[in-house]
Amino acid sequence: MPYALEQLDTPFVAVDVDIVEDNLRRMQQQAEAAGLKLRPHTKTHKQPGLAQRQVELGAHGITVAKLDEAEVMLKAGLTDILIAYPLVGRAKAHRLALLMTRGLEPTISLDSLEALKTVALAGQLAGRSVNVLAEVDTGFHRCGLNGSALVELALTIHGTPGVRFGGLMSFAGHISGHRDVDRITRLIDEEDGMMHDLVRQITAHHVPVDDVSVGGTILSHHLQRLRTATEVRPGIYIFNDMGIVTAHAATIDQCAARVWATIVSQPEAHRLVLDSGSKMLSTDGPIDGCYGHIVEHPDWRIVRLSEEHAVVELPPNAAPAAIGSLVSIIPNHICTVMNLQNTVTAVRQGSVVASWPIMARGGTQ
Ligand SMILES: Cc1ncc(COP(=O)(O)O)c(C=O)c1O
Repeated sequence: MPYALEQLDTPFVAVDVDIVEDNLRRMQQQAEAAGLKLRPHTKTHKQPGLAQRQVELGAHGITVAKLDEAEVMLKAGLTDILIAYPLVGRAKAHRLALLMTRGLEPTISLDSLEALKTVALAGQLAGRSVNVLAEVDTGFHRCGLNGSALVELALTIHGTPGVRFGGLMSFAGHISGHRDVDRITRLIDEEDGMMHDLVRQITAHHVPVDDVSVGGTILSHHLQRLRTATEVRPGIYIFNDMGIVTAHAATIDQCAARVWATIVSQPEAHRLVLDSGSKMLSTDGPIDGCYGHIVEHPDWRIVRLSEEHAVVELPPNAAPAAIGSLVSIIPNHICTVMNLQNTVTAVRQGSVVASWPIMARGGTQ
């Protein structure tokens, strides 16, 4: 017998399964319409069941960041996995090789000779070569190379036994945080141009570039602009969040995951406290000074978090709030919120339908 969401103890995360399904189908259709492979980043949901659904709907494989996450996904039967993170060191080589002997068909992105050595050792240990993508820095300035250093790395990967040069990988993290769509599309066009140039330079050495893999959700809202990519890796699109809404890449109605919280105190007319602190909402940067969007009261502002308290500022002349009543919050960044949960509550039309364990949470290695 389904029961109403409001009967649950707070705080908790609820995920609307119909919105999830719509989000998955829409992105799959958009990728297909643009002639691109979809390889969703599963760091957002960290749940093998949802990864399987993404593949069922047509995804060409999945992305993870860590071997811990790859192991959880592999146990559930997902074998075609891009580990979009440089693996460095002998321990990682041995672990990657072990997962390969259990059926993992990995692709690894990297940007250094040390990481290349690690992956080549794994290939040797497992007795088959590993597909490798050279990571390009297109402006986010995290990992990745560009220009002649990138081309040199690509040629070195191509000439290294135990690995196969599969192409290029980038993550345009620098486009998040912008609201101006013209600015966002300009940055996407710049990235596309860089990838195009690098492909031209590498193929001039008679080295084929099979795949150009780009991410994430904001970029994937503009797939028609991409001339060079062969594959996209959005992650957040499955749930969406305020970061994606702010970039005009989703609407509030397309946000599938909310933190439900109780008003536990109202010490002053203009200030109240919710029971969803940083242990629920995470401390990821505020947007416009707020740590999430309160759906029922869009003019209330979550201005401060302690571990167990969210301090909310009310507008002048706000009606008194009822201590004990519930509100729901769309987080700024859903990936970090998911990583803090043991389980999330799946709901359909306001009724609880399941409890989903976040099986790959906390997988840091
Ligand atoms: C390498 C990489 N690819 C893809 C993604 C997915 O992007 P998004 O979270 O914007 O959907 C991420 C997110 O952090 C990432 O780090």
